[in-house]
Amino acid sequence: MASYLCLSVILIDSEIDNFGVFGLADPNGPMIYKGLYHLFYQYNPKGAVWGNIVWAHSTSEDLVNWTPHEPAIFPSQESDINGCWSGSATILPSGKPVILYTGINPQNQQVQNYAEPKNLSDPFLREWVKLPQNPLMAPTQANQINASSFRDPTTAWLGPDKWWRVIIGSKRNRRGLAILYRSKDFVYWVKAKHPLHSAKGTGMWECPDFFPVSVDGPVGVDSSAIGGKVKHVLKLSFDDTKHDHYTIGTYNFDKDIYIPDKGSVEGYTGLRYDYGKFYASKTFFDDVKNRRILWGWINESSSVNDDIKKGWSGVQAIPRTIWLDKYGKQLIQWPIPEIEKLRLNNVNLSNKLLKAGSKLQISNVQALQADVEVSFKISGFEKAEKLDPSWTNPQMLCSQKGASVKGGLGPFGLHVLASKGLEEYTAVFFRIFKSYDKYVVLMCSDQSRSSLNEDNDKTTYGTFLNVDPVYETISLRTLIDHSIVESFGGKGKACITARVYPTLAIGYGANLYAFNNGNQDVQITSLNAWSMKKAKIY
Ligand code: FRU
Repeated sequence: MASYLCLSVILIDSEIDNFGVFGLADPNGPMIYKGLYHLFYQYNPKGAVWGNIVWAHSTSEDLVNWTPHEPAIFPSQESDINGCWSGSATILPSGKPVILYTGINPQNQQVQNYAEPKNLSDPFLREWVKLPQNPLMAPTQANQINASSFRDPTTAWLGPDKWWRVIIGSKRNRRGLAILYRSKDFVYWVKAKHPLHSAKGTGMWECPDFFPVSVDGPVGVDSSAIGGKVKHVLKLSFDDTKHDHYTIGTYNFDKDIYIPDKGSVEGYTGLRYDYGKFYASKTFFDDVKNRRILWGWINESSSVNDDIKKGWSGVQAIPRTIWLDKYGKQLIQWPIPEIEKLRLNNVNLSNKLLKAGSKLQISNVQALQADVEVSFKISGFEKAEKLDPSWTNPQMLCSQKGASVKGGLGPFGLHVLASKGLEEYTAVFFRIFKSYDKYVVLMCSDQSRSSLNEDNDKTTYGTFLNVDPVYETISLRTLIDHSIVESFGGKGKACITARVYPTLAIGYGANLYAFNNGNQDVQITSLNAWSMKKAKIY
């Protein structure tokens, strides 16, 4: 079986030599075993479009440079003969990693299977064996589970009663379900009477993720941690909208239910990991560095025809550390520090006035592959436009008031992957509005001029950013990598990932600018930009 077709194509295509990113679709079973990071991912070994799904497999010592291996899990049993879909790894107390994944059986039903390493002394865990008992969980007449909506088991967690628990995404009519199963031995699983959680009107829940976060600062905790020192997060990938939403809440262990906190909004208007392209994500606990790491799939904005032409599609986002904000109302995300190893020459500016209506080229940076951190100090608040109370949809506001629409306080930010004459650019920027008792910061990623190729999806994304511009500078970090623009606003309070395919802003034709299309000057308190090296994908 051809394994890392996708990777080798990336390496020979000079326009797409992404650093540290590869793959096709959902990240699966991320974990650390004997000091080595493992990532599996949904992969089509026969082409650039979805199909023939296996678990591709790569390992890394630093989450940046990767060694691809042969696919770890591929159809070989009746219980997965039509596909090996998403799932998760659990490290048992003995230290042995095991995988639960969704298999597609000959009737095209979704069932849950078990795989474990053949040889635990191989640090690469190259070979995986399946249990002859598979499937371990299946839809039946009696359990009333919808056979075409029963997939993506989470990492299991162990309760104080010594029973394992796992949830599986599902739906009943339009109600999304996190179906709960319990097991004493990880092999024989019993469906609980009640789901861990459900919510009406949200459709199919794909790739659920359920994990504790520490209330004591930016450290990760083991997936089985419970008690007063943790809150819980339930992340759901909504099949209908292709966005990853989460709530923060409490896991009531006695009742085995999850209850979102008051004010933690469920459904399509709730919090998202990322307001751009980022789906089917999954976290794992890194017990060596005591952190929780988030992987997410950046799905395509190119047409299927273009994907076939270029021979690959889909990448993994740069892994992010994820923790609970000090107010406990949202998560914070930040690119893993290891990515900074790829930084080359630094360009630094401080206390530079970005005049109303001006743009400033950031030279001496390889604009095609760069890491940029910038902070803006705002003054002249009387220039802020009024926020109409009906403007409750930030994404829509960002598309109506794109980067070229002049304003009061903003738009200001970065033009990345920009051609010299600005025929093409992706704009990551802020606007500040006056609401009746406070200032509201809007963060946008405007792709409308990202490419002259009309076949790309150029949706503009946006979110409100929970930063008070009167007291704080507004910070932006953007990782640029050929066709990917990952932006972190307010030190990781909001993320937007864009997938763009410029035709002119490629190679030496790509430029980087700071811009201010507002009518009030803005101060850049500091700007640091680095050219980035390529990661090694052996
Ligand atoms: C999410 C998803 C999962 C499924 C997998 C199949 O992108 O649809 O629900 O397991 O992809 O590739």
